[in-house]
Amino acid sequence: MRSLINILDLSVEEIDELIKIACDIIDHPDKYSEKCRGKKLATLFFEPSTRTRLSFEAAMMELGGNVLGFSEAQSSSAAKGESVGDTARTVSCYADIIAMRHPKEGAPYVAASRATVPVINAGDGGHNHPTQTLADLLTIYREKGSFNDLTVGFCGDLKFGRTVHSLIEALSRYKGIKVVLISPEELKLPSYVKKDVLKANGIPYEQTTDFDSAIPSLDILYMTRVQKERFFNEEDYLRLKDSYILEPSRLEHAKKDLVIMHPLPRVNEISTEIDKDPRAHYFDQVANGKYMREALILKFLGIM
Ligand code: NCD
Repeated sequence: MRSLINILDLSVEEIDELIKIACDIIDHPDKYSEKCRGKKLATLFFEPSTRTRLSFEAAMMELGGNVLGFSEAQSSSAAKGESVGDTARTVSCYADIIAMRHPKEGAPYVAASRATVPVINAGDGGHNHPTQTLADLLTIYREKGSFNDLTVGFCGDLKFGRTVHSLIEALSRYKGIKVVLISPEELKLPSYVKKDVLKANGIPYEQTTDFDSAIPSLDILYMTRVQKERFFNEEDYLRLKDSYILEPSRLEHAKKDLVIMHPLPRVNEISTEIDKDPRAHYFDQVANGKYMREALILKFLGIM
């Protein structure tokens, strides 16, 4: 049974194919409106979510399928002590495909080993978030036309930001990628990502705390929220939460075709003033996420 736990579970060719399907869905939504008739998607969300859960559900509805699930651990049998494996095995009896978000790293992997239907990782702790990466890749593709020769800046919480880890892994397979890592000392990219992904693939990268000096060289600026729920004490969170705030004055020396991204939710990291700048693409990521999830559901159900 095929599951999506890590973005590298999809080949570059498969990502191209998903992008192609998503673009066709954007152009011809009616062609797809009955494709999942009679199929069910279960969303098992043990952690809060707005976009990921609702976009999975909207995606399935756009394909003519049905959805079921829960949006907090407390309303599931996890509250009674049921294991993730048993929950996944159970839900396999009700649904054709499962999207799961969990605070523990690796939980969707465990679920996939017990489920009899595909499991899609919708975010596991501070680890991975492959379907956000699919949304990010479609956004980059639609703005830049390719994934090669890009200087990509990641700013904010690079330690706990799972969307950052997955996007770096995805980009590591393309040519001419350069990465600029902008974060406070305490929130630097984990060394396993630097070693196993950046160094292993010969991707040039630079680590800095200096946001303003980094901006002019960037083709993509990927902003992130400081991940409050992963901190052990509130004091550290409060000290670090507003480390970097993107305001219009900071874009004075930015490229004219810079693409500003953010997986959302935004807290303070991007001033709402930036929203009207044509270089802001974070709400495009939201829209693109639904189309890529539609494409993924079609592929993993063997419909396309
Ligand atoms: C992200 C996540 O859950 O990791 N949100 C999302 O799915 N778009 C980013 C975040 O919570 O900061």
